[in-house]
Amino acid sequence: MIYPLYAEIGYLIAAVLFIRGIKGMTHPRTAVRGNRLGALGMLVAVLVTVVQLKMLPIGFALTGIAIGAAVGYLLALQVQMTQMPQLVALFNGFGGVASVLVAGAAVAGMIPMATEKTAEAGAVDHRLALFAAAVAGLIGAVTFTGSIIAAGKLQELKLFTRQWNIPGLPIINGLLFAVCLLLVILMGTGATWPFWLLVLLALALGKLLVLPIGGADMPVVIALLNSYSGLAAAAAGFVTNNSVLIIAGSLVGASGLILTSIMCKAMNRSLTNVLFAKFEPAVEGPSADDVYEGKIKATSADEVAMLLDGVQRVAIVPGYGMAVAQAQHAVRELATQLEKRGVTVEYGIHPVAGRMPGHMNVLLAEADVPYEQLKEMDEINPSFSQVDVAIVLGANDVVNPLAITDPTSPIAGMPILEAANARTVVIIKRSLSPGFAGIPNPLFAADNCLMLFGDGKQVMIDLIAAVKEN
Ligand code: TAP
Repeated sequence: MIYPLYAEIGYLIAAVLFIRGIKGMTHPRTAVRGNRLGALGMLVAVLVTVVQLKMLPIGFALTGIAIGAAVGYLLALQVQMTQMPQLVALFNGFGGVASVLVAGAAVAGMIPMATEKTAEAGAVDHRLALFAAAVAGLIGAVTFTGSIIAAGKLQELKLFTRQWNIPGLPIINGLLFAVCLLLVILMGTGATWPFWLLVLLALALGKLLVLPIGGADMPVVIALLNSYSGLAAAAAGFVTNNSVLIIAGSLVGASGLILTSIMCKAMNRSLTNVLFAKFEPAVEGPSADDVYEGKIKATSADEVAMLLDGVQRVAIVPGYGMAVAQAQHAVRELATQLEKRGVTVEYGIHPVAGRMPGHMNVLLAEADVPYEQLKEMDEINPSFSQVDVAIVLGANDVVNPLAITDPTSPIAGMPILEAANARTVVIIKRSLSPGFAGIPNPLFAADNCLMLFGDGKQVMIDLIAAVKEN
């Protein structure tokens, strides 16, 4: 179909806003503005589409937009920061199903297809548009059910988290995928009837693909599904010859794929390992008793406050436990107290600390920690030897030296924050329990390491009080 000039211009503006928005999100300082630019781009794209499609009375469409915006706004306001991955998963799923519906409406002739514009080019174009519709249907449907299952697992809903042992699952999935591909090819030859059958099979495939993957791997799966939702949208864009959908979909597809790759690299795991294998603990790794027995030195908030008296440089290494304890505001308060005493405070941020990309950055930004104090791994690692005290708060795997010293460890090769090189390391956690990888951490037993046991937030509050008293 041919779009009027105002629509093409509107779409161009929306595309520029999307690209500027993504650029803004590459740095915490510009991320909020980037987010707003992206949202504005989406508003422009939706309004232009509604106005030029003329399918619905405008009041009807605007009411729909208002309801959708209100639901999205309320959801975003209410969701806890630790629940953000679930929300993203749901948004991905809705994106996937939206692409299925757009492609389905085009196949059913309810909205114009790309081919009308080039009718004179003959049937080949129509077949290409049907092929794109099939691709949108396949990927969109897989994204939808996969994302719903991923959100359910992250929300720890019993139905989704229980052990799913379906015999012959890889073969069932392989067969389902093969039939889906066959239907896609069939649509590429001009058939329209396979569309909803394809969608149905793809819905089952999405469910069966994600169901057996462990809950802890869901953030990687969500990044991948995010990329899929973009690809489905781009395919839907080809179906309707809609440039903004193609651009936005490609941006989401590419950025989701880059994020997936960054996450896999930072965990030193391959994507196939995440998708098709469980996180196996090291077969011959040392037991917790071997590592810890007789070597753990417990300390108290008062002792750590004395240790902090007169130091020059402190590095704080936050991890998943800080998120669980919601200790970020207390961390900031401790840093403020130390800075008042002339101490330089910085934060070592591991790319997969916590359970979602940017988890630590988001929490610390919420507590107004200045961005300049957040140091990425490559930046802070060389300077740990000049740090007087490293405070490791609820982090475990991301500071585990086994990643470097034990090639048989499940985290072997994972880059870590070398907090162990600080003069003294204070580890704050509730017990000697392992982290996500399920392995002991020799750092806890190191000569320069003190364990301060307790809930992250409560320990921080005690520490602040002790520092103030000193
Ligand atoms: P973990 O290695 O998972 O360790 C977190 C530690 O926090 C635990 O040992 C736990 O010990 C402690 N903790 C829990 N609740 C606490 C509380 N209320 N107060 C104080 N401490 C508490 O965390 P990490 O070092 O951040 O590493 C992240 C891990 O998750 C990596 O293995 C990474 O590969 C994986 N992962 C990350 C992502 C992303 S995208 N970030 C996605 C999937 C998997 P206690 O129980 O003894 O307190």
